[in-house]
Amino acid sequence: MNSIEIKKDFPVLMNNNIAYLDSAATSQKPQAVIDAVEKYYETINSNPHRGTYSLSISATEAYENARKKVAKFINAESSSQIVFTKNATEALNLIAYSYGMDCIYENDNIVLSIMEHHSNIVPWQAVAKTKKANLNYIYVDSNFELNRDEIDSKITKNTRVVGITHVSNVLGTINDISYIINKAHEAGAIVVLDVSQSIAHMKIDVQELDADFVVFSGHKMYAPMGVGALYGKKSLLDRMNPFLMGGDMIEYVYEQDTTFAKIPNKFEAGTQNVGAVIGLGASIDYINSIGYEKINEIETEIKDYAMDRLSKLDYIELYATNNKEHHSSVISFNIKGIHPHDVSSILDTYGVCIRAGNHCAQPLLRHLNLDSTCRASFSIYNTKEDVDRLIEALEATYEKFKKYMK
Ligand code: ALA
Repeated sequence: MNSIEIKKDFPVLMNNNIAYLDSAATSQKPQAVIDAVEKYYETINSNPHRGTYSLSISATEAYENARKKVAKFINAESSSQIVFTKNATEALNLIAYSYGMDCIYENDNIVLSIMEHHSNIVPWQAVAKTKKANLNYIYVDSNFELNRDEIDSKITKNTRVVGITHVSNVLGTINDISYIINKAHEAGAIVVLDVSQSIAHMKIDVQELDADFVVFSGHKMYAPMGVGALYGKKSLLDRMNPFLMGGDMIEYVYEQDTTFAKIPNKFEAGTQNVGAVIGLGASIDYINSIGYEKINEIETEIKDYAMDRLSKLDYIELYATNNKEHHSSVISFNIKGIHPHDVSSILDTYGVCIRAGNHCAQPLLRHLNLDSTCRASFSIYNTKEDVDRLIEALEATYEKFKKYMK
């Protein structure tokens, strides 16, 4: 199987003459996922966990089956450690409020990498302000990486939480998360690992990593929007209070007080996005049907080809590590002297879809002394022809602007 064949699984790519290079924002959805969601609504739609009639029992089974698939996919000890959320952002808020607000105290250190998405920064700012804790950052070096000296100097005995993304959504840098997790545990801190940008591309094994919390969104891994997941160590999830209150997360409700359900229900208040959860299960089946080895082979070839072609354009500034092994399928760049929004709008007229802006990572961009970048991100359905279209469109953009750039 190659990416030309895989592309045929994705209706949006068949129905539009585009080079879709924005999979870091959201991936396209294969027919198998669309079919699974449709089938759910056509055959067993009803409210899981609520009804004792057959249809609702079928919906409960399908919903809980998806949870088991997620657990197996990331090698969680038990499916009860998988909480469905709206997305990674909600999962991170859940951790910050339910764990952070309870377990962080005055003068404790919360350590984040500077390459975190705003979703893994802003909730911790709220915790730090409320609890009078310190927020410290691990900065990237001149090779756009978090080096060990910097990690060692920031994770100290006062550190209680380390928030780290597996892969930067701006730079594509793959962080040495095993090293960071070990370092954090040596210091007595817990780790909140955001795998939103890696889970579609590389195997995540939560037990091997010994991560305390892991979060991701479904929509970047071929699943529908509106579903994400939180994995947590049982001992941590058990001691945490619910983040959202309401239906299905309770045990008994009295006029003045309530006892809560056990995990994971304790954290799933209200009717969930069941169709999207079923779609997430189908997206896991889809990834498994291709396999991470194949995914890696395809994406590495495309990313290397794109890097090679981009690096030959002398008007392009690339923001990527020079260590290929540490670079995932996200490439940020600028055409010197042209605003990324202009570049992106012109590329659109050539049918090339990239993201331009600060990519919800303003602290990182500020640290790099950048305002915004163009970002091309690749997936299993991208072909060398997509890269060629990007390069041709960039050449045309540069030609248009060249005369104004004295
Ligand atoms: N977090 C997504 C991105 O990086 C939306 O584009």
